Amino acid sequence: MNNQDLLAVAKEYGSPVYVYDAEKIEFQYNRLTKAFSKVNDLRIHYAVKALSNISILKFLNSLGCGLDTVSIQEVKLGLEAGVDPARIIYTPNGVSLEEIEQVTKLGVQINIDNLSILEQFGSRHPDVPVCIRINPHIMAGGNSKISVGHVDSKFGISIHQMPHLLRIVENTGMNINGIHMHTGSDILDIEVFLRASEILFEAAKNFPDLEFLDFGSGFKVPYRPGDIETDIEELGEKLTERFRNFCRDYGRELTLAFEPGKYLVSEAGKFLARVNVIKQTTSTVFAGIDSGFNHLIRPMFYGSHHEIHNISNPDGKQRFYSVVGYICETDTFASNRRISEITEGDILAFSNAGAYAFSMASNFNSRYRPAEVLWYNGQAHLIRERETFDDLLRHQKIIDLEPQKQD
Ligand SMILES: Cc1ncc(COP(=O)(O)O)c(C=O)c1O
Repeated sequence: MNNQDLLAVAKEYGSPVYVYDAEKIEFQYNRLTKAFSKVNDLRIHYAVKALSNISILKFLNSLGCGLDTVSIQEVKLGLEAGVDPARIIYTPNGVSLEEIEQVTKLGVQINIDNLSILEQFGSRHPDVPVCIRINPHIMAGGNSKISVGHVDSKFGISIHQMPHLLRIVENTGMNINGIHMHTGSDILDIEVFLRASEILFEAAKNFPDLEFLDFGSGFKVPYRPGDIETDIEELGEKLTERFRNFCRDYGRELTLAFEPGKYLVSEAGKFLARVNVIKQTTSTVFAGIDSGFNHLIRPMFYGSHHEIHNISNPDGKQRFYSVVGYICETDTFASNRRISEITEGDILAFSNAGAYAFSMASNFNSRYRPAEVLWYNGQAHLIRERETFDDLLRHQKIIDLEPQKQD
């Protein structure tokens, strides 16, 4: 996708708009599977939460990728996209037993992350194989909101609760067929994965009927030119060796699973927005775009960095701009960033807009959520229409109201 392609998409589908490059998603998928090609059976489950458009799920399915889901709705989207339930894992946190039971009926792999639900589920469905999410108590991840494996985290069953966990398994007679962990997002040090994997291997020894070990995700992708990223090839080499040694000691070949979100789709996405206004104050030049944190909340929520290019004037003189939204709250995408000279009406392209971007969009300020386009085989394909005023009203009820009587 070059600038001309992106400008053509903005012209045809309007702005703001999300555009995803299928080729980049495929490249990332192939790179990961190649790095682990020496593993007997590798399963990649794409973390649907990152970007849940059904055409993206269908595309990943066509590559051979399964799905990691966190809600029954994500499971249903996956099934609707044609994904085999045997290739879907469901890893909820804090959901009801009822929902887990409903998902069980859909035939997907259940992953449980707390002892209370494990005991209840095991007592009622001892024949359903269950994976267990372990909390290895490792501090990892780019910031506190995406760091989920530490001691204070709500995720997973503490590794120190293993005796209790084993008593539940024995009492209920349930079958544990997988062990899982996910310690956070944006982990750049592969030593963190390796340390956590040793803990997982230790935990796994307690369960004789395992079919797979799931190492979660958290691969760091680059956000700026020259940025560090997880060295997938080195991780592949080192983890494969340890995994194969584990399987040899365990006495059986197991499946190795990952569930990347960002790694597969972050860099594939561009968010295109139009500059409505250039506003000069005493200290700053603001470029105000036709969007806000209702469409891309990551910079305000996580402090995440998105490269911003003026694709309408890519070779213009570099000037400093603070790029802001139109929301009636402070919604700064970038402060005093060098961008080629902006004129009102120009289109800005935000990078790393594939993961946790559209999927976190809302209707705040009663704005429409944007269209989504998949760039596939050199052509733009609309995969979600921009919302309309009817969408805003769809589930609202207008009731008859009369002035209340004043006594
Ligand atoms: C259980 C689980 N697996 C996988 C992911 C995907 O992480 P990432 O997008 O960093 O690859 C997440 C992210 O929140 C998660 O909670």
